[in-house]
Amino acid sequence: MEHEYLEFAKSVAYEAGEVMRKYYGKKPSFRLKEDETIVTIADEEINEMVIKRVEHAYPAHGVDGEESSAKKDSKYLWVCDPIDGTALFAREVPFSMFSLALVIDGEPVLGVAYDPFHNKLFWAAQGEGAWLDDMPLQVSQAKLDNRSMVNVEASYAISSDARMTLEKRGVLVTSMGSAVRTAVMVASGRMEAMIFGGTEGKNVDIAAVKVIVEESGGKVTDLNGKEQRYDGAINGAIVSNGMVHDEIVQYMQQQYEKEKSHEI
Ligand code: IPD
Ligand code: CA
Repeated sequence: MEHEYLEFAKSVAYEAGEVMRKYYGKKPSFRLKEDETIVTIADEEINEMVIKRVEHAYPAHGVDGEESSAKKDSKYLWVCDPIDGTALFAREVPFSMFSLALVIDGEPVLGVAYDPFHNKLFWAAQGEGAWLDDMPLQVSQAKLDNRSMVNVEASYAISSDARMTLEKRGVLVTSMGSAVRTAVMVASGRMEAMIFGGTEGKNVDIAAVKVIVEESGGKVTDLNGKEQRYDGAINGAIVSNGMVHDEIVQYMQQQYEKEKSHEI
């Protein structure tokens, strides 16, 4: 059955990619959401397509999508970010990705992330390894030093102090605009970590990459280094090659303690 779910997720990802390519570079219409972020017609069309595909294939399952959802209380929940990096997509920067995970009882068991610009599919299922098309993925073995790279998204989660500490050690610190894309870069060993500050409604950014990165040998937790559920709001995420994980958790703790002492 798991295999069938994986094939289903892959075929949905390829269909989502077709929609992204259809609108890319053609100035798709967009509107601002309540949180003042952009959503395009492509995000909404993909989200609707995912709901229809799930309803047709697995009527008892639910969908938690960034733009719309159905049967969100189901035990089997397809968690989807139709386009991660929408702001880049709307600006014609080819860096955004589609992502979809099957989450059972809060735990992601398989994930796919599709890059429609290069026709590259990252995919993984628990216990089956992680793959870029048919090549196995492996995280880096690097520590935090002047050869390493850490990406920060939704960066309100990481203080300028924590960022400076990393930069002083020579780490290249970036904010590239897509949590999913940079997380799969961790999975493929191109960077050491991605720190993500998203909470409410942001499980959609991390559910699929949780499986992809961990099956590549890495680690994914909340900002305190703890496991968390992916069927509702999350407490940010630290996505890493495993080796640098505890150190980043430590930086985050130091940051919280400092913020607390300033409050007193
Ligand atoms: C966004 C991206 C971005 C992060 C934002 C997210 P979206 O997702 O993941 O990297 O910094 O917080 O909202 O809105 O493009 O799906
Ligand atoms: Ca999105």
